[in-house]
Amino acid sequence: MKILAIETSCDDTGIAILEEKRGKFTVLSNIVSSQQIHANYGGVFPIMAKREHQTNLVPVLVHALKQAKLANPKSKTLNPKQIQTLKKILEKESGLYQFTKEFLETYEKPSVDYLAVTHGPGLEPCLWVGVNFAKALSFVWDIPVIPVNHIEAHIAVNFPEKINGNSKSEILNPKTTFPAISLIVSGGHTQLILVKKIGEYEIIGETRDDAAGECFDKAARILGLGYPGGPIISKVAEKVDRGRASITLPRPMMHSKDYDFSFSGLKTSVLYKLRDTKPEIAKSKTFIQEMCFAVQDAICDVLIKKTLNAAKDYKAKTIILGGGVSANQELRERFSYTLDPKTYTLIVPPRELSTDNGLMIAVAGYFNRTKKIGWQRLSVHPNLRIGKEFGNI
Ligand code: KG4
Ligand code: ZN
Repeated sequence: MKILAIETSCDDTGIAILEEKRGKFTVLSNIVSSQQIHANYGGVFPIMAKREHQTNLVPVLVHALKQAKLANPKSKTLNPKQIQTLKKILEKESGLYQFTKEFLETYEKPSVDYLAVTHGPGLEPCLWVGVNFAKALSFVWDIPVIPVNHIEAHIAVNFPEKINGNSKSEILNPKTTFPAISLIVSGGHTQLILVKKIGEYEIIGETRDDAAGECFDKAARILGLGYPGGPIISKVAEKVDRGRASITLPRPMMHSKDYDFSFSGLKTSVLYKLRDTKPEIAKSKTFIQEMCFAVQDAICDVLIKKTLNAAKDYKAKTIILGGGVSANQELRERFSYTLDPKTYTLIVPPRELSTDNGLMIAVAGYFNRTKKIGWQRLSVHPNLRIGKEFGNI
């Protein structure tokens, strides 16, 4: 079985093709185009991101099909009825219609069994581009669509063991994996999720204000370092030895009894620290490096402490990390040496699968394939919550 998956919930345009044969997975392609435009503004502007997705989707799809050896040129025009429906489906995606029509008239229907697309949570205009594109492909190719929860996908990408590149991989053994505690840390979310089994999730804690990734991004903006902030802060922080670090920032809610987080105060303390430091010092390389170290250190401390509390209380066998912030080297290393490997198995995705990508949508699509629907029923759910799909959001 082959699944072609589309991800556009934020600022990465991702398309992947996954093949499953007798429980073994092969990644045929996983192409991500990260939008650079937002670096100039220090954050993602949904309307700008939507426009970029409209431009990127067809080239990314062609690239993914070619890499999967599923791009077969044909030369057949769509009939007037098809064109009329295609125009209707893409009426709000003016930048995408012409590219899609040309693509559909240039390439044959590929041999894939399902489409999968992120229908939430995420930025509404961005979600619509991916969903409308999936509708268009589904209509012309007559292939069903599996709507996918983006947060579930960040978790599910870890279920096939060592899924990456072209090597075949199998699903983790449920007996030794579950219950698991999953920490999903991204630009929009910071959630602790109890994973009872594949497909059965419960949010047990989450941020009350900013997400951890958002805190990295805002701190980087305050320090004049650009966007996305996480990778930049992490790189600059590498220059500081722990022994030399002299700035300490607060660890909000670290000792609260629940599993919730709060990161907006941390961002504010970065602002105050900068304001209260003499300008000539505040501009120095050393100060910026130390601030980056302090921000990263505080975020890591809180994330690890709360995750370990949850793992202990829920008698988890496994801790699963996911989301863009889980690409952070310090966080990964600190988790691996803080955890007792006799008590917990730590599952961390390869770095390129921590940040948004199409493959995670394909894998989650695979596990949700019985929920496939016709394109007419597809919609977007910007505030979708894992464990409470559809009607309950
Ligand atoms: O999961 P993701 O790609 O997109 C969302 O669904 O939000 O996460 C993006 C977030 C951004 O806030 C970015 O700064 C952060 O992940 N991020 C990192 C690193 N790489 C990406 N944060 C810390 N360290 C990193 N290496
Ligand atoms: Zn994400």
